Amino acid sequence: MKHGFGVIGNGGMGDWHVRRAQAGDVLDVIAVHDIKESRNVFAEQKRGVKAYRTLEEFLADKSIEIVTVATPNDVHESLAIACMEAGKHVISEKPVTLSVASLERMIAASKRCGVRFSVHQNRRWDADYLVMKELFEKQTVGEVLNIESRVHGSRGVPGDWRGIKKYGGGMLYDWGVHMIDQMLMLFRDVKLESLFCQFDHITTNEVDDGFKLTMCFENGARAYIEIGTYNFITLPRFYMQGKHGTALIPDWGKPCQVVECFGWDEKDVTPIQAAAGLTKTMAPRDEVTTKSFEIALPESDPHDYYRNFCAAIEGREEQIVTHGQMLRVMRVIEAAFESDAKKQVIKFEE
Ligand SMILES: NC(=O)c1ccc[n+]([C@@H]2O[C@H](COP(=O)([O-])OP(=O)(O)OC[C@H]3O[C@@H](n4cnc5c(N)ncnc54)[C@H](O)[C@@H]3O)[C@@H](O)[C@H]2O)c1
Repeated sequence: MKHGFGVIGNGGMGDWHVRRAQAGDVLDVIAVHDIKESRNVFAEQKRGVKAYRTLEEFLADKSIEIVTVATPNDVHESLAIACMEAGKHVISEKPVTLSVASLERMIAASKRCGVRFSVHQNRRWDADYLVMKELFEKQTVGEVLNIESRVHGSRGVPGDWRGIKKYGGGMLYDWGVHMIDQMLMLFRDVKLESLFCQFDHITTNEVDDGFKLTMCFENGARAYIEIGTYNFITLPRFYMQGKHGTALIPDWGKPCQVVECFGWDEKDVTPIQAAAGLTKTMAPRDEVTTKSFEIALPESDPHDYYRNFCAAIEGREEQIVTHGQMLRVMRVIEAAFESDAKKQVIKFEE
């Protein structure tokens, strides 16, 4: 059974949704709506999809059951609530909205209107994240003490609405929300105790053009997220330290390197002469105390997000991206803004 589908905001990501939905197995693309005429014409001419010139006409189309809102971030709330009040199930692009209070209004609207509501956290299907998640859950390198997630580029904030504060620009709302969601899913059963965040303003003062965020969890583990847009030399995408080993994904699409260690508490190390001088700290490990191997990145299909959303509408599955998870991510984002503004560690209650 296919569900009637529509997109509001037919820009880069809106068109991505249209194409994926057309190629997929659970949605029947009915129409788009954009305030820019060129994007309506694009949908009609390039994708063969109806385009409504007004929101009212779009909302009045009863064959549209599910709407994805893919506009700039500041209007996600108003458009999502308008769709819900018209009886439509809603997926908001990320970030779902700009504040906890706004998200609470959206959740209240979905309950009031009796419709499904979620956010498109498609990067839960990223192959690199899935490998890290499996290592984390199986404790392949032991209990994880530290995990670092980085996205590095060298082009600054894109020159569109992402560079403008009132539209919800900045890298925390852009890449940050994906990486925070991934990290909080790893630590979904562990309380977050505190966080510290510093924004970068290397190319603009209007919004953050990168940030460094450290989150400390109740079990002593630490998660670090760094988005940089002025990194001409990049650091690895993922780095994980467990009690018995290390895992690293050097870059997008690259296999994961793992070293498991069996004799980590070995004390009788013979010093070696290294470039750093005479050292025990950097004396290399041998194959008796360590095992090194690679894990190829798995296949994954982000359209499973839509399959699940449709199954949830039909009552066959639980919604994967829950309201509780959305609120947790948004609370972390608010606390990160507060931390940067106050230059302080923020205590987190949950
Ligand atoms: N999940 C992901 O991986 C991912 C990737 C890129 C973008 N996004 C998100 O998708 C959303 C859109 O990003 P984009 O890169 O496609 O931006 P974009 O600028 O390419 O497209 C936005 C479109 O929305 C239209 N629009 C603006 N206000 C509108 C309104 N009130 N009603 C109808 N249409 C309106 C614009 O005319 C434009 O065509 C953002 O929330 C962004 O964060 C998500």
